[in-house]
Amino acid sequence: MRFRCHGCGATVDAGNALPFRCPNAGVLGDDVDHVLVADDAGATFPRGTEQNPFLRYRTLLSPYRVARAAGLTEAAWTEIVETLDAALVAVDGRGFRITPMAEQKGLAAALGFSGPLWVKDETGNVSGSHKARHLMGVMLYLRVLERAKLPAGDGLRARRLAIASCGNAALAAAVIARAADWALDVFIPPDASAAVKHALQDLGARIAVCERRPGETGDPCVLRFREAVGHGAIPFGVQGTENGLAVEGARTLGFEMAEGFSAAGVAPAALFVQVGGGALASALAQAFEIAVRLGVVEKTPKLIAVQTTGCAPLVRAWKRLDGLDLVAAARHRSRFMWPWETTPQSLATGILDDETYDWWAVAEGMRASGGRPVVVEEDMVARAHNLARLHTNIPASATGTAGLAGAMSATDVRGPAAVIFSGVER
Ligand SMILES: Cc1ncc(COP(=O)(O)O)c(C=O)c1O
Repeated sequence: MRFRCHGCGATVDAGNALPFRCPNAGVLGDDVDHVLVADDAGATFPRGTEQNPFLRYRTLLSPYRVARAAGLTEAAWTEIVETLDAALVAVDGRGFRITPMAEQKGLAAALGFSGPLWVKDETGNVSGSHKARHLMGVMLYLRVLERAKLPAGDGLRARRLAIASCGNAALAAAVIARAADWALDVFIPPDASAAVKHALQDLGARIAVCERRPGETGDPCVLRFREAVGHGAIPFGVQGTENGLAVEGARTLGFEMAEGFSAAGVAPAALFVQVGGGALASALAQAFEIAVRLGVVEKTPKLIAVQTTGCAPLVRAWKRLDGLDLVAAARHRSRFMWPWETTPQSLATGILDDETYDWWAVAEGMRASGGRPVVVEEDMVARAHNLARLHTNIPASATGTAGLAGAMSATDVRGPAAVIFSGVER
């Protein structure tokens, strides 16, 4: 089971070495966008009825493929998934199940939408958002390495997990780490909410508050996280640049949507996705590309990445990419992506990443599907949040409804549209 870097082409055999950061990242001092991407060659789309996405879509997941290649049986995989799932139920009151997706007629009417509006509801997922999907993929891989005693797993148990986040991703990491009984460090900014800090501590995570140091650019939490990883911590965040496996786990969300649309006989014209670090949109683009290739749906919806005026590094990159070859652009990252210069602000606090770390894969997904990014004003972010509250019973945060703000702004898009409500209101 191999991972391949979309920037430099390096490959990593996930049984022998950890497919987290590309082995060439930071070594050559180059400007290449290094991200390891799971190879799905030879996979077929499963047609099972399991309700746990990590069982249902197992043949498309690298941890399962590593497990089987190492001689573990189907039963062993099921046991690994179900044991972790039972522990999640004990910690968080729920495990992974296919999440609901439905047409929201009342909301579409309130918005004056011409076409149907479909909403995938991730607010009831483990820890209250889709973020847990990213990290379950990583944890399953770690478990497989241990169980199969693969070389890549040597000495792994002694290493702590690490993440830079103060929101949904941190909470998801803490829930999964607790369920797996694995020590976790969370790097948070000084203004992280007290409620999140308490929740993290209650889950047994160790928190490190990261002040911005004079002359430093980029998110200080990400910088401290990278230092910890440099000292041996396992990257347990949701950025593909730091851990290629993290993106893959959230492909399950796209697989669920593709199957759901296929069953409903609906071909969505556009998929609006709120974008911070870019791992979610990147995973969805990959999942739909696989679903089309493996015959589940005919066409990928136009991927429309939604950012706010307070922080829109992907939109800036997209403008610079105009007319350029994407493969070549991956070798000149800094021409397209660098930290947002001013302190990012928005009601949608969860998408204020200084950089769209996974910008390249999102740009690739937008190009391939005929999509584009949109920037939304703050009043639209607030309106989308209010309307979602009034016209659905999904308790999503303003971050989680920011994709809807994009759908409200992109008035030229016709036909069925899809959005993801994630991040329960806390
Ligand atoms: C609810 C919610 N939706 C979407 C996103 C965006 O995900 P990404 O950072 O992978 O772009 C986040 C990120 O924190 C989030 O919390």
